[in-house]
Amino acid sequence: APAPSGAITSLAFAAVGKSLADTITVPAGYTASVLYRCGDPLVSTVAAAKNDGTDTDFDKRSGDCHDGIEYFGLNTAGTGPDASNSERGLLGMNHEYQNNLFLHASGPSANPRPAAEVDKEVAVHGLSIVEVRRSGSAISYVKDSAYNRRITAATEMLMSGPAAGDALLKTKYSIDGSRTRGTQNNCGTGTTPWGTLLTCEENWIGYFTRAATDDTARGGATARSVVSLKRYGLSAGAASRYGWETGGTADLYARWNASLIGTSTDGTDDYRNITNTFGWIVEIDPYAPASTPRKRTAMGRFAHEAAAYLTPVAGKPLAFYMGDDSRGEYIYKFVSDAAWSAADAVPADRVATGDKYLNAGKLYVAKFNADGTGQWLLLDISVAAIKNYATYAFANQADVMVNARLAADAVGATKMDRPEWSTVNPATDDIYFTLTNNTNRVLTGSSYPLVDAANPRAYNDTDGNKQKGNVNGHIIRVAEDNRDPSATSFKWDVFLFGAEADAGANINLSGLTDDQDFSSPDGMRFAKSTGLAWIETDDGAYTDTTNCMLLAAVAGSRGDGGPVTVNNTMTVTSGTTSTTSSLAVSTWMGRKPSDTTLKRFLVGPSQCEITGICETPDGKALFVNIQHPGEETATSAIADPSKYGSHWPDGGTARPRSATVVITKNDGGRIGS
Ligand code: FEO
Ligand code: CA
Ligand code: CA
Ligand code: CA
Repeated sequence: APAPSGAITSLAFAAVGKSLADTITVPAGYTASVLYRCGDPLVSTVAAAKNDGTDTDFDKRSGDCHDGIEYFGLNTAGTGPDASNSERGLLGMNHEYQNNLFLHASGPSANPRPAAEVDKEVAVHGLSIVEVRRSGSAISYVKDSAYNRRITAATEMLMSGPAAGDALLKTKYSIDGSRTRGTQNNCGTGTTPWGTLLTCEENWIGYFTRAATDDTARGGATARSVVSLKRYGLSAGAASRYGWETGGTADLYARWNASLIGTSTDGTDDYRNITNTFGWIVEIDPYAPASTPRKRTAMGRFAHEAAAYLTPVAGKPLAFYMGDDSRGEYIYKFVSDAAWSAADAVPADRVATGDKYLNAGKLYVAKFNADGTGQWLLLDISVAAIKNYATYAFANQADVMVNARLAADAVGATKMDRPEWSTVNPATDDIYFTLTNNTNRVLTGSSYPLVDAANPRAYNDTDGNKQKGNVNGHIIRVAEDNRDPSATSFKWDVFLFGAEADAGANINLSGLTDDQDFSSPDGMRFAKSTGLAWIETDDGAYTDTTNCMLLAAVAGSRGDGGPVTVNNTMTVTSGTTSTTSSLAVSTWMGRKPSDTTLKRFLVGPSQCEITGICETPDGKALFVNIQHPGEETATSAIADPSKYGSHWPDGGTARPRSATVVITKNDGGRIGS
C-alpha cells in the first residue's frame, strides 16, 4: 500500500512539555474537549450523572475506565455504514475496569458485597457503542441514538470457532458450551476489514475465585484443569478482585466462583469451566444494536491486549497480530483459512463475514532470534511438541485454543516484556508491538530469564530506584517475509526504547530529548489520514516527573537502523548487601528519532493513563481516552475531596472520572499537521 497522499513526514507542532498538572495539555493551535464521561447518559430518560456515588442505571450510561476506542462511519441518513463519513459515526469503546472508590457514595462495601453494588459494578464494565456527530467544528455524542448500546459483564455472548461446544466450555448456564454471559477487562480494541469491532479480554482471570480445597476437588496439582488454571493465574484459594461472587446465591453472582462444586462429570451443574469462556477476542457489530457478540476462539485464549490486521490482499488470507500482556508472555498471529475477497469490505451480512474469516485458521506464536530474524511457530494439535507435551496432555485442537499459553510454552516461543498494543503501518506493512516494561527481568536475584536480543534491557530506574528490569519499555517492529500474511518467518528490529532523557546513553538508547522522552508505551495506532504513529503511555517509573502522555512519530521502515550493543548494569540490594552485575547483549534497532520525527503531543491529568485512540476518516478529529485519573486516591480519603488524586475533568471538588476527549485543530486542519 502506498503512503497516504498528504502523509506527514515532519512534525511541525510545538512539543508539549512534561507536566504534573491536573489537566490536559495539547500544543498551541489545538483544542481538547471532553466528550463522554463515566456516567454520562445514553438516553434522555436517564438523569445527568451526579457523580457522587449514588448514580444507578449504568446499563444506560457510559461505563468506567475508558480504554480502546474505534470510529465507525455512518451514512448521512444514519441508516447504515459509510466508513468514509467524518460528520456522523459511532464510537465503540471499552470500559476496562472500575475506579471502585468513586462509584459508591462512601466507597465499596466489604464482602459479602450488597447485590446492588455488584450489579452497578458489573454494568460499568464492558463497552459503549455511542453515536457522535459533527456540527461546525464541534463534535458531540447523540443521546437517544438508536445505535447507542451498552454491553456489560452480564450481556449474553456466543462462543464461536473451534472451542465452541467443547467439553471445556460447558457450564450450568450453557450445558452445550455454546454461550456465556459477559465480557470484562476489555483493554485494547481492533477493527476488521468488514467494519466490525474487536474487543480484547485482558485481565479477566482476576474476577474469579476458587476455594482453597479446589485443587484437591479437581484431582490434585497434576490434574489437567489445575495445570491450566494455574498457568492462567488462578490458584486455589485466590480471592476475586471485587467479590462479585458474594453478591447473592443466584447464578448471576455464583458464576464468578470457578470452584468445582457440583456432582456432574462434565461441569454442567456448576461454573468449574467458567474461566474458559473468558480470555478471548470478541467481535461486535456496532451497526446492529440487537446483535449478539461472538467470542472468536480460533484466535486463542490469553490476556488479550489488542488486534491489528495486515493490509488485506485479494486472494490471500487475512493475518491478525495480538499480544498477551503479562510479564514474560508471548506475541501471536492468527491467519484465516479463508482468502480475502474485496467484496467483503462492505458485506451484506457482517456476522456471516466474521464467521467466514475468524472461525477457522491457524494460530502462531513468535520466536525472536538474535540475528534479527524470527519464526511464527504453529499452535496445532498435530505439532509433535504440543502433542507430546509433558506438562499438559492436550485433548484436541479446542484444548490448544483454550490453553494457548501452554501450547506456546511447548513450542518454545520467546518470553516478551509485556506485549501491549499491536498496530500495522499501512504504508509499509510493518507490524509494531509495544512492550511496556518488565519488572521481572533482572540480572541477578531472580529466577526469570536473562535479557535476550528482543528484550535486551535490565537496569535500575535512574531516580529513586523505583523499578528494576526493563523499566521503561520499548517498541518492537516486525516485517513479514515478502509481506506475506501466511509467512512463517519474519525480520524484526526495535523501533524505540523508552527512557528518561537524562538517563545516560546506556539506557537512553534512542537518544530521546526532553521534547520526546517517554516511559512504558502501551496504546499505539497508525493514523490512516496522516500516516503518523500515535504512542500512548501507562507509566509507573516517570510519573514522579510527568503525567502519562501521547506522542506522535514519523515511523520509517524496519531495517532503517542497524546492530547495537546494550550494556546493562543492575544493582540488586538484599539486606545491607548490594551486588552490581553487568551484561552486554546485541540487538537490532531502527534509526534514532530526530526532533521532527518524534514529539510529545499531549500530557494527561493526574494519575491517569492515556488509553484508546482513533480518528475521523478526514483526520480532523482525534478521539483519546483518559483512564482512571486520581487512581491513587487512598480509600480512607473518600469523604475528603482535598485528598483526591485528581478532580479531572469536572474540576473543583468533583470526583475524578474517566472520559473520552476529542481533539481538534483550531484552523480546521488534520491532527498532527
Ligand atoms: Fe489494560 Fe495491558 O493494559
Ligand atoms: Ca493497555
Ligand atoms: Ca498497561
Ligand atoms: Ca523515574
